[in-house]
Amino acid sequence: MILTTRRLELRPWNESDAEVLFKYAKEPDVGLNAGWKPHVSVSESIDVIRNILSRPETYAVCFKGENDPIGSVSLHLKGHTDLTDRDDECELGYWLGKPFWGRGIMPEAANEMLRHAFEDLGMSKVWAGYYDGNDRSKRVQEKCGFIYQWTTQDVDVPALGERRVGHVSAITKEAWHELMDENCEKKAQLYYKQKELLDTFLKSGAITQAQYDKSFGDLTKKMGFGE
Ligand SMILES: CC(C)(COP(=O)(O)OP(=O)(O)OC[C@H]1O[C@@H](n2cnc3c(N)ncnc32)[C@H](O)[C@@H]1OP(=O)(O)O)[C@@H](O)C(=O)NCCC(=O)NCCS
Repeated sequence: MILTTRRLELRPWNESDAEVLFKYAKEPDVGLNAGWKPHVSVSESIDVIRNILSRPETYAVCFKGENDPIGSVSLHLKGHTDLTDRDDECELGYWLGKPFWGRGIMPEAANEMLRHAFEDLGMSKVWAGYYDGNDRSKRVQEKCGFIYQWTTQDVDVPALGERRVGHVSAITKEAWHELMDENCEKKAQLYYKQKELLDTFLKSGAITQAQYDKSFGDLTKKMGFGE
């Protein structure tokens, strides 16, 4: 399955992605924050694609129109998460290549994964966790509407052979729907405010009809209200 957002395409991982996976997964700041060891070779990356990234609901994050993955996002279903053993709950996991941090890419991908989890897969709750100190991941969860649940002092991080403090958050289907409704309302208000401003500019002669048409078209497209 392929999922799309404004800037991204989320598609299954292929073995041919191994070199680009290695490029980003060898960077210690990526894996260590997520609880896994940095990759040491392309052949390790191939193994990871075969054994981990080929699991259900695991997607390579790509920019639209580009084939190279820049990160990964997944829903860990029952049996692949310690946070729940229910069929209708899962855990969101993600990482992004370091050059792409700080552009809101993961919140955009994670939001689509939430939509997919609730609307396509029939999930009633999505869990997420982050290790103490990983404020970037904490922010992703906050920005997507996850609510803090609890902290565990002594979480086992098997891949690294260590124990860490872990924080857990979750979002229910109901809370997600409320958030979507709220966002739609905010978006509509913004749209009409900006349109009103353009109307005023046109009326006062500050912009021409052609400039108005262009700006109005751009606004409609940006807001996703047009074709
Ligand atoms: C967590 C991660 C996926 C965030 O993705 P992202 O697309 O960069 O997310 P955002 O752009 O929304 O940035 C999140 C926060 O990171 C911080 N940030 C922004 N730019 C940054 C940069 N260039 N370098 C470091 N941190 C930055 C900001 O505090 C930002 O929050 P803000 O928007 O409130 O200011 C990414 O940092 C990552 O892959 N980290 C390593 C793996 C990992 O931790 N995975 C999650 C395991 S639980």
